[in-house]
Amino acid sequence: MESQQILKLDIREDGVAIIEIHRPEARNALNLALRQALSETFRQLNHDASVRAIVLTGGEKVFAAGADIKDFATASTAQMYLRHTEQYWQSIIDCTKPIIAAVNGYALGGGCELAMHADMIIAGRSAQFGQPEVKLGLMPGAGGTQRLLRAIGKFQTMLLVLTGKFIGAEEAKQMGLVSEVVEDANTIEHAVELAKTIAGFSPIAVQQIKEVTNLGQDMSLQAALSLERKAFQILFDTKDQKEGVNAFFEKRPARYQGE
Ligand code: CAA
Repeated sequence: MESQQILKLDIREDGVAIIEIHRPEARNALNLALRQALSETFRQLNHDASVRAIVLTGGEKVFAAGADIKDFATASTAQMYLRHTEQYWQSIIDCTKPIIAAVNGYALGGGCELAMHADMIIAGRSAQFGQPEVKLGLMPGAGGTQRLLRAIGKFQTMLLVLTGKFIGAEEAKQMGLVSEVVEDANTIEHAVELAKTIAGFSPIAVQQIKEVTNLGQDMSLQAALSLERKAFQILFDTKDQKEGVNAFFEKRPARYQGE
């Protein structure tokens, strides 16, 4: 199956799944097959109870250089519309497990948009981010304007989407687009360590935190605080919450069962 060649998947015993995009000859550009494979893989991992956290990477050299330009070079409006590529992104959006993007090298256009679908972005020191669609007579079409706006604000977003300029990892971190910057050689390892830590926590608490944080971005503060309070209260009906508190008092590591 083509998805096995262009996507590598490693589901580890510790609850961490690592997805690696592997199309080095095209700088991991997201062609249709890759989008389908990513979508299927996220759907699969979301249904696999053994998976507690997901690391998404393009490997050591490049995260993804954007949508595959060959896929749309001569496309018409009708053809682009009928592809309904939003369906492929949706299974990443619907993923209830935390996603950590481990970015080395370029994360451009659809690649930057893909990274922004994650819940954390760990960047290697030489990573480069950008939304260069304007240079192609285009604009971002998978959340580039809107996710950037929410992450880094209007004036930094306009700088990136209107000029197409690339920014390095440190600058991206200062803007609020990157969670942490590490040495290139440690990017994936560090993202996996973070995922492993999260995988050790109660999956119910972790998934509630992810859901409330993401939903809250687009709600009024009042409604978001109410949602947070309800989610917080719901956790008191879980065995994991009792286990966490008991383990604290018994001075031992908690063993969360996801119940
Ligand atoms: N689509 C298709 N092929 C791509 C690609 C892309 N986005 N990016 C790179 N490639 C291909 C190149 O065509 C080249 O193929 P050949 O060897 O067959 O010529 C190969 O990958 C290597 O590329 P370069 O020789 O250019 O490698 P480089 O290291 O010198 O430069 C780069 C790397 C800066 C990423 C440069 O390739 C580049 O600018 N790529 C395009 C980036 C871009 O414009 N991305 C936005 C795409 S539009 C989009 O994403 C729309 C959306 O939001 C939905």
